[in-house]
Amino acid sequence: MNRSGVSALLCPLCAGSFGIDCATTPKPSALVCDSGHSFDIAKQGYINFLTGAGTRFVADSAAMVAAREEFLAAGHYLPLAQALATTVLAHSPDNGDSLVVDAGTGTGYYLHQLHRAAAQRRPSAGLAQGPTGPALASIGLDISKFALRRAARLNPETLNLVWDVWQPLPIAAVTADVVVVVFAPRNPAEFARILTPRGVLVVATPLPGHLAEIAGVAGLLALQEDKQNVLQASVATHFAPGGFTDVEHQMSLSPADVFRIALMGPAGHHLDPAQLRDRVAALPEHTDVTARFRISTFYPHHTPAH
Ligand SMILES: C[S@@+](CC[C@H](N)C(=O)[O-])C[C@H]1O[C@@H](n2cnc3c(N)ncnc32)[C@H](O)[C@@H]1O
Ligand SMILES: [Zn+2]
Repeated sequence: MNRSGVSALLCPLCAGSFGIDCATTPKPSALVCDSGHSFDIAKQGYINFLTGAGTRFVADSAAMVAAREEFLAAGHYLPLAQALATTVLAHSPDNGDSLVVDAGTGTGYYLHQLHRAAAQRRPSAGLAQGPTGPALASIGLDISKFALRRAARLNPETLNLVWDVWQPLPIAAVTADVVVVVFAPRNPAEFARILTPRGVLVVATPLPGHLAEIAGVAGLLALQEDKQNVLQASVATHFAPGGFTDVEHQMSLSPADVFRIALMGPAGHHLDPAQLRDRVAALPEHTDVTARFRISTFYPHHTPAH
């Protein structure tokens, strides 16, 4: 559990802060705010901040989460993860104090690759902990407990919080250096509030043509044609566009991979797994499939562009 992550947290009940002692106890069993509100740390390592009535949102199912973890673990999206890490590290000061918030962290794959890249940048500091503290502190937010169980296993240093990103975030203003959103919902007003004046919002989205070869067989939802304009417009009140990096590569996918990629995305909420399995069974041993993504950066309006 990282210290700078904990010190950036706000209690979801009273907006109070959490004592730094929470971060120095080797294996704390709960986070306790200054007013005594206590949030258990699950045995897998994540913390549920969504107490009370909960949310109307439909979280990804266990099957969808398992499919995503297996697909990502096979490395099919590694080029995206690496390009994302390059973008994030270019914006995070190398002084051990940067805080990255991954909104909709899922199984934590992209954050994991980011920590690996950060550790390589600071080889003497080990994977995450150096003598002066974490090379990079991170907070992962997701509404799905199933996803966070896996994220917490993969990224034990990350503060993984069950949270609905449409709600005010349980993170103090002007604390995050980078907010990352990979195929997940965005709350621009809240992202702008938590970012430091020199902070950056990094958003990964699919580009037209992404997975085109298997869109039919896998029952994928059609991509919005003007997604990039929609993205820019959706954050425009709070952010100015920075730049973008496109990532395109070919993947060689087995029928099992295609099954997983279909189930792990937004279409996974509507697909019948048995029907999907029958459809992908007709595919050849390997199908060449194009992956196309855009990594866009945005700067909060309250600072001059940098
Ligand atoms: C398509 S997945 C992407 C996960 C991860 N970023 C990745 O690319 O592997 C979308 C994620 O957003 C999460 N999510 C959906 N609605 C959310 C909300 N309102 N608040 C927080 N997370 C949400 C889902 O549980 C899921 O893990
Ligand atoms: Zn409190």
